[in-house]
Amino acid sequence: MDYSGLKIPNHVAIIVDGNGRWAKERGMTRLQGHDAGFENLVSLSKYILSKGVKYLSLYVFSTENFKREKAEVDHLMDLFVLLYRDKLREFMRNNIRVIFSGRDEPLPKKVLKARDELVRETANNTGGTINFCMNYGGRAEILDAVKKIVASGEDVSGWQESDFAKYLYQDLPDVDLMIRTSGELRLSNFLLWQNSYAEFYFPETKFPDFHEADFDRAIVEYTKRDRRFGGIKK
Ligand code: FPP
Repeated sequence: MDYSGLKIPNHVAIIVDGNGRWAKERGMTRLQGHDAGFENLVSLSKYILSKGVKYLSLYVFSTENFKREKAEVDHLMDLFVLLYRDKLREFMRNNIRVIFSGRDEPLPKKVLKARDELVRETANNTGGTINFCMNYGGRAEILDAVKKIVASGEDVSGWQESDFAKYLYQDLPDVDLMIRTSGELRLSNFLLWQNSYAEFYFPETKFPDFHEADFDRAIVEYTKRDRRFGGIKK
């Protein structure tokens, strides 16, 4: 779709949701649902960044997701490794930089290695940034920032909010548009600091079916929103 005349958000965040239900509807396993979500994730990300979005944060695994069955957790870890093994070339071809937000512990070594390689190899790309949120929790991110600040011994008395934000996992601009697929109306501990003034969009579509035209609809809706950031309407 032609985006002229539409507002392009600088930072889009997506809570990837509905892979399991998508699979169940088709008589497939949850793991097959994640495989479908994985393929959609990479192609959709390319499309979103090609439209001028500079930052795309993707919630692919929360700290709470470790409570799922071992086979499912293991499969999601393997998919993460595939990002490096099978998708690096696509990120390079599309000039996409990859960064990560989340805690290391208890991610397996192979995941940390894949993560570090992806970050290193794509570091000089300039066509937009994907921030994979992996073993991520919003409260944990704020707590981890406080711990780093205390350990640094800095005098915080004159600090602005932006001084604090530098200690988060990544120093990112605020989220402009937050999308959660599959009809769930929750933030689920995602980017608590960065989502303060985000516009929320909750399509019913389950993630493996959320394609380019669905993102176009989100942008049309976002363009209609009147963002006042707590000020008054002019
Ligand atoms: C939510 O669907 C999805 C996840 C918890 C994982 C998202 C992961 C991918 C799209 C694959 C890519 C993964 C990595 C690690 C790069 P759900 O399982 O909660 O669906 P349900 O609510 O319908 O059960």
